[in-house]
Amino acid sequence: MMKSVMLEKEKIYSGNLLLVNADYPLKNTGKEKEEKLVPACIHFPAILLKHDAANILQLVLEKISSGNLIVPVSGYRTKKEQEEIYSGSLKDNGEDFTRKYVALPCHSEHQTGLAIDLGLLKEEIDFIRPDFPYTGICNQFRKTAPDYGFIERYQKDKEKITGISHEPWHFRYVGYPHSRIITDNGFSLEEYIEFIKSYRNGCRLVYKDKCGVNVEIYYVPAISDKTIMDIPDNQIVQVSGNNIDGFIVTAWRRSNEKK
Ligand code: DAL
Ligand code: ZN
Repeated sequence: MMKSVMLEKEKIYSGNLLLVNADYPLKNTGKEKEEKLVPACIHFPAILLKHDAANILQLVLEKISSGNLIVPVSGYRTKKEQEEIYSGSLKDNGEDFTRKYVALPCHSEHQTGLAIDLGLLKEEIDFIRPDFPYTGICNQFRKTAPDYGFIERYQKDKEKITGISHEPWHFRYVGYPHSRIITDNGFSLEEYIEFIKSYRNGCRLVYKDKCGVNVEIYYVPAISDKTIMDIPDNQIVQVSGNNIDGFIVTAWRRSNEKK
């Protein structure tokens, strides 16, 4: 049996898989109060994330027993905060540095509540470029995070694609198993969003997770103000906008269930 789901065009601007960069600004600014934001960590109540991202961050930190060694440095930012960070950095660090490490207001993932900058505990932690090395507990976080939903967003050698310099400290919640697929294939988020677009019109990316559950991933273009999608009853489905032109569907089906 199938059921139909109707997606309003507006929904392409919300969800865990939004691509926010120099080309694709965040569209829902001004609706900050509607976001379900919670502290990223109880010891840092002013650093906020969306509810799911905060829960998963805690899970990863517990999994690697990070204690207090990993510190959240910057999470959700309002448009105004991003403006202040941008203009403050221009003044203190100049244009070249700022373009490399600070996104323009409305073009920052931090405004989605899905991005977190993490630093290794130190007496002084740099706010824009915290130290988050490829060794020890920080690297354990980096290696474990994709099993739960976070990716290192601004990888080395992807600067031309992401428009941002290598940022070992900036992690983005995209949800599992997207995080695993992105990391295992060495994709930037830009490349992944493009890659998923080839899975459409009945063609699906099938990912078998470590519990033996088949996850189907595919793209549905937003063709008009309302897009209708048919979904089998036996699937649990999550839909995210891509912030460009359509939706990414993630569907779970028990591996022993018939199609
Ligand atoms: N540091 C990242 C690019 C930001 O400002 O959103
Ligand atoms: Zn960041």
